[in-house]
Order: sequence, then C-alpha cells, then structure tokens
Amino acid sequence: MRLAFAVAGALALAAGGAFAQQATRTGPAAPELEHGKAVYAHWCAPCHANSMGLAGTNSLTIKYEGTDIPGVLEDRTDLTAPVITYFVRNGVAWMPPFRRTEVSDADLAALSAYLTAPLEDRGAHTPLLADEMAEMEAAR
Ligand code: HEC
Repeated sequence: MRLAFAVAGALALAAGGAFAQQATRTGPAAPELEHGKAVYAHWCAPCHANSMGLAGTNSLTIKYEGTDIPGVLEDRTDLTAPVITYFVRNGVAWMPPFRRTEVSDADLAALSAYLTAPLEDRGAHTPLLADEMAEMEAAR
C-alpha cells in the first residue's frame, strides 16, 4: 500500500511539473460556474483531473501528444457543449455513458458551461485524489 501511495505521489508530482506551463489556475470558480464545477468534481475528475495516473487524462494526453490540446479536460478551450454532451451521454472506451438520473440535463448544461468558460473564470484545478494521497503520505 505504501508503495502504491508513493507511486501515485510521484506521478502527481511529475504531472504537476509537466502541466505547470498552463495558465495560472488559482482561487474559486466564478459564482455562476460553481455548480458545473461541482458536477465535474464528482463525475469527471476521478478520471480527468490533473494527474497522469488517471484513465482519462492519461488517454487524452497520449491522444493529443504533439498538439496544443492539453490532456486535462479542465484546461481545454476547444470543447463545445454538443461535443461534451455527446461524450457524456454515449461514453467512449473506458468512459461510461452517464444517465439522466446521474447527470441530469441541468447538470450537463452547467458542466458544459464550466468546461467552455474562459480559463480565468474556472478557478483552481479540482483537487486530485492523487494529491490527497500524496499529502497523506507526506504527513506520515
Ligand atoms: C471511468 C473514467 C472516466 C470518467 C468517470 C469520465 N471519463 Fe471522459 N474519458 C475517459 C477516457 C479513458 C477517455 C478517452 C478515451 C479515448 O482514448 O479516446 C475519455 C474521453 C472524454 C472526452 C473526449 C475528449 C476527446 O477530445 O477525445 C470527453 C469530452 C470526456 N471524456 C468528458 C467527460 C466528462 C464531462 C465526464 C464527467 C461527466 C467524464 N468524461 C467522465 C474516462 C472517463
């Protein structure tokens, strides 16, 4: 277990370094984006947060290697609401489709507003599970 935590921590640190050139992401999201960010944190961040140890971020980093498109969904400026809706309702590879009983249409609209807002309005990256694990390990 200790080794798993250490590996996750090392991955999180490596990913943090690799993504450090991204626009500064600090503070809370704009008030009108908070609901969408909460939907993202609950349903999407477990696979798409800012860590290479996660399925979505890892796959998309490889998919877009050599382009300007970042692997972290929260850093993307090219997504549109129809594209987000398509993937959320249909899934892709390991990503499951999300039902309306999980992510309602209102939640999806808020999520799309969050992922298409100007970067400076989105606030800090959603906290990572891997970061929390690394912090726990460091506190031992
Ligand atoms: C179980 C893990 C998992 C969850 C949860 C998940 N995704 Fe994904 N998602 C993936 C993977 C893996 C891919 C990449 C598949 C591939 O290789 O093309 C992906 C791809 C995507 C893409 C396509 C991006 C592109 O440029 O190809 C979008 C958009 C997306 N996810 C949005 C979301 C949103 C929004 C949520 C939350 C509602 C979410 N995902 C939740 C794993 C996940």
